[in-house]
Amino acid sequence: MKGVLLAGGTGSRLYPLTRITNKHLLPIYDRPMIQWAIEALVNAGICDIMLVTGGTHAGEFLRLLGNGHEFGIDRLSYGYQERPGGIAEALGLAERFVDGDPVLVMLADNVVERSIRPMVEAFSAEPEGARILLTPVEETEHLRHLGVPELDAEGRVVRIVEKPADPPSKFGVTGIYCYDGGVFDVIKRLEPSGRGELEITDVNNHYVSEGSMRYDVLEGFWGDAGESIDAYYVVNDFVRAFGANNP
Ligand code: G1P
Repeated sequence: MKGVLLAGGTGSRLYPLTRITNKHLLPIYDRPMIQWAIEALVNAGICDIMLVTGGTHAGEFLRLLGNGHEFGIDRLSYGYQERPGGIAEALGLAERFVDGDPVLVMLADNVVERSIRPMVEAFSAEPEGARILLTPVEETEHLRHLGVPELDAEGRVVRIVEKPADPPSKFGVTGIYCYDGGVFDVIKRLEPSGRGELEITDVNNHYVSEGSMRYDVLEGFWGDAGESIDAYYVVNDFVRAFGANNP
């Protein structure tokens, strides 16, 4: 299975910090944010990775990561998004790298307490359609900043609503997704959303409507360090106290 780490975007929710660097290079405890995402993939056995970034600080990733060997990566490829066009558009840049294989995609500002290996193993055993990772979220206000699934009585995903005013469940969709090699055809057929971007939630809803979307519920802490400056500090405090990507 290949891995794609998405580390672009303007990081506007963390201005002014992100005027001078890429969000994914800001510190989480004792290292740049991107290193926690790399560790999540490598610990799950994914060592063939493409990092997609954009904006004005892309060269710093090369300076930090080099060929990736120091971090346990076998082959590290880089992609560059010329302008902010959404998460799904950024993923589209990895088409030739992925080359029809199953792929794990991770938004590099997501930090998890526990290993993502169970999800990777489940998808590897049945690498068709898509598999997402849900996290229980209690606060309605927090859910309004995430993708939220609507579940039927059997617990199947009926649809995913992006940043819902009225969240249809108490689960957030994390930025950790598994797709089969057909995901790039799905992306090519997407229409830009109201904010002019290709949305990952539209990719996921395609798999939901096809009946090929599965999910796992994450155990332990999950945080999106790019969601707000307060979320950034919640993630920092957690990782400092308990670490991340624990077995
Ligand atoms: C993105 C996705 C959203 C998901 C979130 C998780 O939102 O669009 O569905 O819940 O990542 O980190 P963003 O953080 O880009 O607003």
